[in-house]
Amino acid sequence: MTRFTVAIDGPAAAGKGTISKAVAAHFGFAHLDTGLLYRAVGAKVLAGGDPVAAAKSLSPDDLQGNLRTQEVAQAASRVAVLPDVRAALFEFQRDFAARDGGAVLDGRDIGTVICPDADVKLFVTASAEVRAERRYLELSEKDAKTTRADVLADVVARDKRDTERAEAPLKPAHDAVIIDTSEMSIAQAVAKAVAVINTCR
Ligand code: DC
Repeated sequence: MTRFTVAIDGPAAAGKGTISKAVAAHFGFAHLDTGLLYRAVGAKVLAGGDPVAAAKSLSPDDLQGNLRTQEVAQAASRVAVLPDVRAALFEFQRDFAARDGGAVLDGRDIGTVICPDADVKLFVTASAEVRAERRYLELSEKDAKTTRADVLADVVARDKRDTERAEAPLKPAHDAVIIDTSEMSIAQAVAKAVAVINTCR
């Protein structure tokens, strides 16, 4: 088996997760949602832990449980500005990317920092309003108290923090293919990603 790395970056709720899972299934690659690592650290900090100690001691068990809340997302975005947290999570992501048989990693800095030599780099984006609406539909199924305004505010605040931080800010790699999913269905976005990857294989 050979190594083949697909880096998928983009802002909150752009559809990276959905596209990454579908692409991994299509090509038989392993998938790592790197946002989950930052969410797990964020959750530990919300529970009173120290962010760097949490990042250094993450275990698979920490990735279980309900990490998909707005509170945990904000905490993740806050711990993600810390260089020592990012450094602690670096090697795990790098090793995952180098596994035999192919890997898809999605996050904010995969194409720029974690895997600058990835075989394919995609930057998946959509307007803040479209992203907030999609996330609202997802979250309101689980929590009827969720409002559209809250979700939009969360998305905008995270975009700002993730883009403006000094360490590994969210931005497309110079050689990334941009996929704007604002006007695309899931099937269309996945088909586009698969087509781009096929041109690089
Ligand atoms: O992809 P997500 O929404 O689950 O990510 C949660 C937060 O984690 C995001 O707002 C910023 C941070 N993150 C990061 O800084 N770098 C990554 N590679 C992935 C996520």
